Amino acid sequence: MAVACLKSTDISVARFSEHQTLPPAAREASTATAIALAGVEKWYETNDGPVHALAPVDIAVRSGEMMVLLGPSGCGKTTLLRMIGGLIRPSSGAIEIAGRPLWQNGARQGEAVADLGMVFQDANLFPWLTIEDNITLPLALRKAPRPARRAKARDLMQLVGIAGFEKRWPRELSGGMRQRAAIARALSYDPDILLLDEPFGALDAMTRDAMNLELQRIWGETGKTILLVTHSINEAVFLADRVVLLSPRPGRIDTVIDVGFARPRSLEVQATPEFQQIVVALRRRLTEIA
Ligand SMILES: Nc1ncnc2c1ncn2[C@@H]1O[C@H](COP(=O)(O)OP(=O)(O)O)[C@@H](O)[C@H]1O
Ligand SMILES: [Mg+2]
Repeated sequence: MAVACLKSTDISVARFSEHQTLPPAAREASTATAIALAGVEKWYETNDGPVHALAPVDIAVRSGEMMVLLGPSGCGKTTLLRMIGGLIRPSSGAIEIAGRPLWQNGARQGEAVADLGMVFQDANLFPWLTIEDNITLPLALRKAPRPARRAKARDLMQLVGIAGFEKRWPRELSGGMRQRAAIARALSYDPDILLLDEPFGALDAMTRDAMNLELQRIWGETGKTILLVTHSINEAVFLADRVVLLSPRPGRIDTVIDVGFARPRSLEVQATPEFQQIVVALRRRLTEIA
């Protein structure tokens, strides 16, 4: 449910929408919908019995959109992202990537997965590979020839701002640089969609600000669809076209907020009353539903 305190605020730059249920039309194959979830739910089997991680959720991420999933720790954000990434199966419901079902007859569909790149909180680089080889590992697995991989690595490292570090080892890079490399790796095979699970959660505040700006720039330059998970309200409002607030476990969609600040956004937008109003309203709502 959208929240009274949100709707009563008068924020000209932001438009608040009701709890969004995926309209049937949005579930149909459509170039405008990058990711469509219909009734996607997850139960985990554990030794202590079943755990209801995620209540059925309906979400449609538009092509080219920056959507941010925001929610308290343990509410099922990672579960949701891993299901969209095809790493785990939903207990029920359907997922479509660019109009193609992710699962069919119990089998994950390679074509759908090829549209997805994932970045996690830890960069997960292989310590025994150079940065260049880490970034192009997905291409090596796809048997791309070495000169093509080198050229791709050069372009991507330029894009994410770590040019010149091709032959370095992961341990020689700062946390922020390793995350840049992880983003480059996810982009290496040119997926249309990036799934980012708290990618900057382990970084200090200043590096995190810088990475938020960088992500906005990379998104602007590549036109990718981005679905980012965070538990930082500030990060969510700064980055998002839409913030989707999830309730505590089992996660369900509580509120969806359109954030309309002009792009590219500078960090200064965070100091505006409009920005702060959204942050305060989200924080209040998070406390209410906790
Ligand atoms: N493989 C698993 N087996 C059992 N329970 C799990 C598993 N993964 C996550 N959970 C539980 O599901 C809930 C949601 O977890 P998660 O998706 O990681 O939340 P978030 O990313 O929002 O912190 C938590 O209660 C967590 O303990
Ligand atoms: Mg998580």
